[in-house]
Amino acid sequence: MSRWIGTANQGYSPYAIEELRRLLDGVKVTQLAAGETFLFDSERTADDVAAAVAADKPIFLRHLQPVDRTVEIKGNADDLQELSETIRRSRLLFEDKKVAIHVRRSNKTAFPYSASDTKAVLDAVLEELDAEPVVQNPDLIIAIYAAASELYVGFGRPEDMLSDWPGGAIRFQREEGQISRAKFKLLEAEREFGLDYSKFRNAVDIGAAPGGWTSLLLERGLRVTAIDPGEMHPSLAGHPALTYLKRNASEVKFKPGSFDLLVCDMSWSPMQMCRLVLDLEETLAPHATAIITIKLMHKKPLQTIREVKERFSTAFIIKRAKQLFHNREEITLYLEKKQ
Ligand SMILES: C[S@@+](CC[C@H](N)C(=O)[O-])C[C@H]1O[C@@H](n2cnc3c(N)ncnc32)[C@H](O)[C@@H]1O
Repeated sequence: MSRWIGTANQGYSPYAIEELRRLLDGVKVTQLAAGETFLFDSERTADDVAAAVAADKPIFLRHLQPVDRTVEIKGNADDLQELSETIRRSRLLFEDKKVAIHVRRSNKTAFPYSASDTKAVLDAVLEELDAEPVVQNPDLIIAIYAAASELYVGFGRPEDMLSDWPGGAIRFQREEGQISRAKFKLLEAEREFGLDYSKFRNAVDIGAAPGGWTSLLLERGLRVTAIDPGEMHPSLAGHPALTYLKRNASEVKFKPGSFDLLVCDMSWSPMQMCRLVLDLEETLAPHATAIITIKLMHKKPLQTIREVKERFSTAFIIKRAKQLFHNREEITLYLEKKQ
């Protein structure tokens, strides 16, 4: 038996639960924050669950927190005292390790302390135990979820929690002059899929305006062909590595094998987007990478994703499908062109 907290983007927890039910049998679920966070019990051991999730990575499950201890909330200073004791009792887990404290609070919780106050107190406890409190690159995470009347505490490695950010909510610094928030999606895809965009040379960006994705690829040193009937941001005008085609992507033609990276972020019907990308297949080099956003326009996301994957599988290997934290009503596909 093992107990976990699962988290998905707002509104998508029913799909994350469905994925878990397909992956593990005998899953019992209790809602913690509607549409987003839920507690579940599995008949399988914690190692088994972590291995099953790692072997068949879910699309909608953004974060997975083990529940190793439960502390009843009293609503006063005893809560922090008890949390500190819970960590002291597991001293051997943390000694000489880099440890990050992640605290999340449901808005119905009776726990009276803020996430940052809790973290400050527990960081001091870690120091007392000869552990190194860190924010980035921890060996271990102590994840605490403050539910209505209980604190759920879990210890685990970042990879077993699917993220090294609290609840999988990865934040990027907004830069001065940043063209669009959409840039965060492509940054998150790079991290999530273990890519390094600077290894590519020639990219085509379909549905590029106003140019957040294009700007990231230019920063990484690629030559970029951006296609969009809409206007690109003036800051990109005249960039020596940018070719901007102010057109509908269905009207453009390129030489075979022109690009080793295709990115596509059109807010369009998934099937039309599939046809458009597949029509451009010849212009991609063998084994080219594609990063594509799929709009989940209909009520049945799992079915839409299945159909899109099926269509793309004629020309591409489907490496991953994932709802990124920065995806709203959409998911991101990571594909590799077949020979
Ligand atoms: C969500 S925006 C893209 C944002 C962009 N990734 C960024 O980072 O700034 C979607 C874009 O797709 C474009 N688009 C829609 N249909 C298109 C088509 N058939 N051909 C080219 N672009 C298209 C729209 O004009 C719009 O600018």
